[in-house]
Amino acid sequence: MRVIVEPDASGVARTAARFVARLLRRKPNCVLGLATGSTPLGMYRDLIHMHREEGLDFSRVVTFNLDEYVGLGPTHPQSYRRFMQENLFDHLNIEPRNTHVPDGRALDFEAYCQQYERQIEEAGGIDLQVLGVGSDGHIAFNEPGSSLGSRTRLKTLTEETVRDNARFFGTAEMVPRLAITVGVGTILESRQCLLLAAGPHKARAIRDTIEGPVTAQVTASALQLHRDVIAVVDEEAGRLLERRDYYREVERAQALLEAGQLAALLPDRARRNDE
Ligand code: F6R
Repeated sequence: MRVIVEPDASGVARTAARFVARLLRRKPNCVLGLATGSTPLGMYRDLIHMHREEGLDFSRVVTFNLDEYVGLGPTHPQSYRRFMQENLFDHLNIEPRNTHVPDGRALDFEAYCQQYERQIEEAGGIDLQVLGVGSDGHIAFNEPGSSLGSRTRLKTLTEETVRDNARFFGTAEMVPRLAITVGVGTILESRQCLLLAAGPHKARAIRDTIEGPVTAQVTASALQLHRDVIAVVDEEAGRLLERRDYYREVERAQALLEAGQLAALLPDRARRNDE
């Protein structure tokens, strides 16, 4: 896993938006997996800015969101469909029919979840999956104990998640207890994952995700099994990472390599022999 530690949340947003923009320029019809919640908001703002100021083009992009609360319709103020419209889609030149958010009011959930999986497949699979992480280490709404091979399905939210999300609803009693969520297995099939985290309340989850054992008790830790994950975290979220200095060293070396300055990475003697 590549780990990038930024000084603060706005650095996380900027770096994440750059990764998305780079993909869009390389593959204008890419398929993005998107998340809701506080974490990606800064990245969405930066992408909107890039669309307005630099003409970043979303006209051929297809998106699939990770999850939706069961029982909430698309216009409900706390529905994830509404969140996506207000915080991203309404500000881009994206085709509405290319945006997919699970339907929290589907009639037959089992059939609907299978159909959502099929739609992802038919679109060619997710090129880049954007992820936040819950304070209990969940990705999407795959709460602790979720199968690491799970697919899109209904999931009961833990008390911790309900408490965390009560800030959006006013009180915990108002938070739906069930959600449709893509599975850990679905996420692991994405070609690349971009895991974002900021703030001290994410420090434990980030340590467990990146440096802990792979366990269904921290579903984000399954990302260690994926071949192409970039974690972008701020100082506070990365505070408990033991190998923080090493991750920085890797990034420094990567930057020098990209700038064609291999010599700067060689030990002194090797450099002298080269001259
Ligand atoms: C949202 C989602 C969740 C959040 C996670 C962190 O679509 O899938 O896993 O990413 O709960 O939420 P925030 O970003 O609000 O801390």
